[in-house]
Amino acid sequence: MSRPRTLADAAANRAAAPDTVEILPSILSADFAHLADAIDAVRTAGIRTVQVDVMDGVFVPNISVGLPVVAALKALGTVRLDVHLMITAPERYIDAFVDAGADVLTVHAEATPHLHRALEAIRARGVLAGAAINPATPTAAIEDVLEIVDVALVMTVNPGFGGQRFIRLCLPKIARLHGLARERGLATVVQVDGGIDATTIGVAVAAGARQCVAGSAVYSAGLPVAEAVARLRRAAAAGLDHAT
Ligand code: DX5
Repeated sequence: MSRPRTLADAAANRAAAPDTVEILPSILSADFAHLADAIDAVRTAGIRTVQVDVMDGVFVPNISVGLPVVAALKALGTVRLDVHLMITAPERYIDAFVDAGADVLTVHAEATPHLHRALEAIRARGVLAGAAINPATPTAAIEDVLEIVDVALVMTVNPGFGGQRFIRLCLPKIARLHGLARERGLATVVQVDGGIDATTIGVAVAAGARQCVAGSAVYSAGLPVAEAVARLRRAAAAGLDHAT
């Protein structure tokens, strides 16, 4: 994602690029005994990027995967990796996760006192920088660094587990960040994560989300993965029709 040099460039970029919504399956809900198959299934459905949820059991009450799994998925060479660090002091592991293969690296504003430094360190490695906020964290926590944020992640569940209910209270935060990015002519994309399914993706997109992370709606929907992805895409498109 090239960063526009001027407001006019950004407006031109926006005018040129049609408004689109990207679905990012979260592997947290996939079968960990067959991760390569889970990646193949979404790749076949036209997915280009998956989200890898890294959890340390401290920042969130769960432990998931780490560096070896990111490296193994990178070695498949078929999808881009959006790595969501739900860990304390994430700056300790920026280089390690970039070296393991992260294409996007997202840190939580709540997890470090030096968010600006962490984002600059990610960008210095040439990968996209994400800043995430939990449901109770105001957008003000990342508004002053939005210029160096490629992905603004608004959590729509309290992080740690898949299969939770979408928190509608987060909708105004999505709209505010999307509006700010457009006002400032930034290429920042608003991403939502948590409780995204065919019944919630539409309102998230209408509010301004352009990347939607979905775990259980892709891998535990009781449908073939391709059908589950297609259903999300249809509901996202309907949301775009209502986007302001
Ligand atoms: C939650 C994770 C999410 C989760 C999404 O802590 O960050 O990515 O896997 O799962 P669903 O889509 O099932 O809510």
